[in-house]
Amino acid sequence: MSKKAFIFDLDGVIVDTAKYHFMAWQKLAESLDILFTPEHNEELKGVSRVRSLEIILGLGRVEASEEDKQKWLIQKNEDYLSYIEKMDESEILPNVRETLEFIRRNNQGVALGSASKNARPILEKVGLLHFFDVIVDGNDVTNAKPDPEVFVRAAQLLGVSNENAIVFEDSVAGIQAANIASMLSIGIGDKNVLKEAEYCFPNFLYMDNSFIETLIKN
Ligand code: BG6
Ligand code: MG
Repeated sequence: MSKKAFIFDLDGVIVDTAKYHFMAWQKLAESLDILFTPEHNEELKGVSRVRSLEIILGLGRVEASEEDKQKWLIQKNEDYLSYIEKMDESEILPNVRETLEFIRRNNQGVALGSASKNARPILEKVGLLHFFDVIVDGNDVTNAKPDPEVFVRAAQLLGVSNENAIVFEDSVAGIQAANIASMLSIGIGDKNVLKEAEYCFPNFLYMDNSFIETLIKN
């Protein structure tokens, strides 16, 4: 039985930071008079910071100079950082810690595959950093999801083939990235949104250990 790589997205899978990203983008959109709804926000999940800004400006048909874009990216991140400043382990999503513990007890590889440049400090804040053998985040990759670079790099660093990698994702772009790389995609969230996922669970409370055991054995 080959070792498996369990690759976790961060925002919206491990911690409930998706709402803070949304709040920070909404604040910026409002200041630019752009209508930005929770539905629009689905398109931003899993997407890099720069690409997210392009999508928002596109919604308002706003053309901006490079200088303004840089200023807004910094502003958004400062607002986001202020929202997550006081984050602690209470913001770990249900049953995530238990799932990580179970996978580690079974000697499988555990990686983070996130678009965020804030991934490490967040994992530290919530006390989960030590669970990860490998961390690949927005500082390490050039191509954003749905490009599979972040997941492929994580599997490589764990010494596991793509076919033996399992990806937990809450974003459409992330599920597509896993599928493109021939990894097993597991959606965390609404199956009507994450239609392309191989399996989908509302959250980790719905995924019992016997399901993980099956993934390890197959
Ligand atoms: C992804 C989030 O994980 O990271 C996106 O789903 C976010 O919403 C992206 O824009 C980049 O994150 P950060 O922390 O580098 O701005
Ligand atoms: Mg996510």
